[in-house]
Amino acid sequence: MTESAKPAPPCLFVIFGAAGDLTRRLLMPALYNLRRGKLLPDEFKVIGIARGEKSDESFRREFDDSMHEFAKGAETGGDWKWLRERMSYLRGDLEDTATYRALGDRLTKAGQDNVLFYLATPPSVFAPVIEHLGQAKLLDESAGGWRRVIIEKPFGTDLRSAGELNRTILSVMSEKQIFRIDHYLGKETVQNIMVLRFGNGIFEPIWNRNHIDHVQITVAETVGVETRGKFYDATGALRDMVPNHLFQLLELTAMEPPTCFDADAVRAEKSKVLQAVHAFGTDDAKRNVVRGQYAAGAVNGGAMKAYRQSPDVSPDSRTETYVALKLMLDNWRWAGVPFYLRTGKALGVRRSEIVIRFKQAPLTLFRDTPVERLTPNDLVLHIQPEEGVTVSFGVKKPGPKVLTEGVEMRFDYQDYFEVAPSTGYETLIFDCMIGDTTLFKRAEEIEAGWRIVQPLLDLWSCGKGFSPAPYTAGSKGPEEADALLERDGRHWRALTGPKKP
Ligand code: BG6
Repeated sequence: MTESAKPAPPCLFVIFGAAGDLTRRLLMPALYNLRRGKLLPDEFKVIGIARGEKSDESFRREFDDSMHEFAKGAETGGDWKWLRERMSYLRGDLEDTATYRALGDRLTKAGQDNVLFYLATPPSVFAPVIEHLGQAKLLDESAGGWRRVIIEKPFGTDLRSAGELNRTILSVMSEKQIFRIDHYLGKETVQNIMVLRFGNGIFEPIWNRNHIDHVQITVAETVGVETRGKFYDATGALRDMVPNHLFQLLELTAMEPPTCFDADAVRAEKSKVLQAVHAFGTDDAKRNVVRGQYAAGAVNGGAMKAYRQSPDVSPDSRTETYVALKLMLDNWRWAGVPFYLRTGKALGVRRSEIVIRFKQAPLTLFRDTPVERLTPNDLVLHIQPEEGVTVSFGVKKPGPKVLTEGVEMRFDYQDYFEVAPSTGYETLIFDCMIGDTTLFKRAEEIEAGWRIVQPLLDLWSCGKGFSPAPYTAGSKGPEEADALLERDGRHWRALTGPKKP
């Protein structure tokens, strides 16, 4: 989505799960932001579907407050009014064919052939909704318009279920109609990875095993499991974050340059990264993966209960809230370069970043600085909450002696750009409306992600070793994760708070 983008073509936006949190916090605010950015067409309508009995007006009213909370500035100007007027409600059970008949009638009445169906529902109804849409012929494009479906994560819970879901989807629509969302791809800083790598001449020549020592990908969260115990205890940090968000970061960091910036070319290169990941055997699954679970502690000055004491979590749960892994890629660019990934909840700092650690100078010319004390050359892509890029290197410390000291060069998005309010969903929704699938995942990419982690899920489900190591809430995670790198003579970049000059 660029500043000069034209509005999307006329279309109808149907939300399954219109009474849920996602619709309130993200989808409606994102539509509002798109309207503010003049990217919605005049001929635009929203139909919300949920179980409760309500009128169009009471449906609209439900959003008046939340829009003020989640869409900055919605109370002023006419954009919320514009969107509000275009909203209507359909009561219906998502597993009842009558709902789809009623929806079909509404679509016919609206006279709009371009329809985007957004599945903001619990994952258990993804497949039934899609099958119903197919049976009711609502995905049929023969009238000339388009029919597209956006599906949220989690996309399956393992390789088998993801494969089944893909088969269900592809039995009623074509790959180009399905938009599998990973909200990490909606983040500007994530989209910037490709621009940084392929829009500049200086990085690509050194972006390989000859110059890079290793890569660290961190997604650290301060939030605990909060009210999501039921979902999370059956899911864990690996399933929740790794085959989706962390692998997106891995793919964008490690992919080959595509031949053009076209959806098929980009997605093909991204998929190849996952195909190159060295498969986990039982021994290296035990050696190269660390699981952790948070114990009671304090985060940002507030007490946090142990994970096992959280609502809807089993008191003897063995679910991990932290996972760290070492991956190796079997290809010419990356052979021998470890990729260390870590993610966890209830950590001391919220930070997502990618660290590219370049190889050290082979020897030091400066008598008083031993090689091991030279400043590492890190290129750090700051994903959130800081947004930018830093490079660290050593310089001569002023004074009569030749001593080196580490410094950092920093680019911060906010210093250069006025950032429009965003939920991170605007680009993704807009891209779906214009039919650009670049930022969405293809069937094989999803399955390739699950294929990598499946040996770990199998091992853990049979309870062999791998009890999660405890770590204190508010800390940097379990000590075992430090040991994973120390064994290789390396260290994680410190998880500290925002660093501003
Ligand atoms: C979601 C996970 O997909 O991503 C959550 O289910 C996690 O557990 C969230 O907190 C993180 O997203 P973000 O954008 O806050 O980094």
